[in-house]
Amino acid sequence: MSSKNFYLSSKHSDDAIELPVLNSTIGHNVIDIAKIPQTGCFTLDLGFGATAACESKITFIDGNKGVLLHRGYPIEELAEKSDFLETCFLLINGELPTSSEKENFLRSIQKHRNIDGSTEQLLKGFPRGSHPMAMLCTVVAAMSATYNSNTDITSAEDRMLTIYRLVAKMPILAAMCHRHFIGQPFVATDDRLDYAENFLNMMFGTAGKESTVSPVLAKAMDLIFLLHADHEQNASTSTVRLSGSTGANPYACIASGIAALWGPAHGGANQAVLEMLEEIGDEKHIESFILRAKDKEDSFRLMGFGHRVYKNFDPRARVMKVSCDEVLAELGLENDPLLKIAKRLEQIALDDPYFVEKQLYPNVDFYSGIIMKAIGISPEMFTVIFATGRTIGWIAHWNEMLSSPYRIGRPRQHYTGYGKRSYPA
Ligand code: SDX
Repeated sequence: MSSKNFYLSSKHSDDAIELPVLNSTIGHNVIDIAKIPQTGCFTLDLGFGATAACESKITFIDGNKGVLLHRGYPIEELAEKSDFLETCFLLINGELPTSSEKENFLRSIQKHRNIDGSTEQLLKGFPRGSHPMAMLCTVVAAMSATYNSNTDITSAEDRMLTIYRLVAKMPILAAMCHRHFIGQPFVATDDRLDYAENFLNMMFGTAGKESTVSPVLAKAMDLIFLLHADHEQNASTSTVRLSGSTGANPYACIASGIAALWGPAHGGANQAVLEMLEEIGDEKHIESFILRAKDKEDSFRLMGFGHRVYKNFDPRARVMKVSCDEVLAELGLENDPLLKIAKRLEQIALDDPYFVEKQLYPNVDFYSGIIMKAIGISPEMFTVIFATGRTIGWIAHWNEMLSSPYRIGRPRQHYTGYGKRSYPA
């Protein structure tokens, strides 16, 4: 505990209330404000911009320096040297796996790729063209009906089985949502393929035919999953923690995270970026959209720009931008008009005083949509893919919370409604 504690006067006694300062490994220390109500006040922090809701060891972000660490490893190094499933092991276990640990982990994931028939029926019940996020949210919640064995959340073993099931099934379910969305039959999993290859084959393959997945696209897909894996206590992860704190079924908790991610201010931004670039349509229209983004009277925001924590470049956006160039060059799309608009938009915004003063930089969603579109993924599927990558982050935080003593989350409020009054006689 740090020596620099804070003291506040109490409403109920002459003794000052001591608010301990707890040291963090890196970044901001925290003030334990549990005793604050003794002052007769609660704290108010709209949007939780300055409030730590939990202790965690999984991910650290330094927003001013544009740093993102997963269990201490910089995202740039993981993107270059690791892969998505190895990063999943790291997020869950806290250390990179040995080669035998990695082999066992991949085997444990692979054996849970099966999807039961009731889930297929559930998906087929959706009207054609239903948004894939609506389908994904439903089928993941339905897993709490299908997988009702070994869901004792107090058992570390059961929690690990839940983790294997979710990591294995998310890309399968995501691909099935896509196939139903475009009115195509499901493609069976192919156990000869790795995680990203099998996902792409189930998305774009032909039912009953041999798979042919481009290694470049599979590598890009694996990187997209990796870059979306975890991001501290963002809105959807906080939702999963809050749901999990009630002891709710883990699949229902992940479904709540999917629902929270869907919003265009959060994971839905990647689809909104592409729609925005298509609406801009030509570099000559960029200035007018920048003016709209700066106009307080206009609700338009520059999608893919800005972040609650990053007041510098989102390091994931930098990695995504390099991958974007590689994938489009590989596909002969380096002159893709949307990429040209995106790069010009980024240049103009980064030179504009409004964006500079407000420290608005491209975030993870700014380039991801361009890569996914180049791979052939429809915009409606972008947030589904974000959710597929982020599931490991959600379930790692859920597991971390349940692995040590925790309390049900129950925020207080700043009440400004009526005082007590009587029902009219
Ligand atoms: C993700 O939390 C996470 O970690 C999320 C995420 C993850 O991996 O989980 O990183 C993923 O959600 C990335 C963000 C994706 N969303 C978008 O790209 C949507 C566009 N961005 C904005 O909606 C906004 O920047 C947010 C939602 C991302 C952040 O909102 P904040 O922190 O509440 O910031 P704010 O709205 O208070 O903005 C501060 C100022 C405001 O102006 P003033 O009121 O001070 O005059 O900056 C302005 C805003 O109007 N502003 C923008 C802007 N973003 C902020 N103006 C124009 N365009 C924008 N994009």
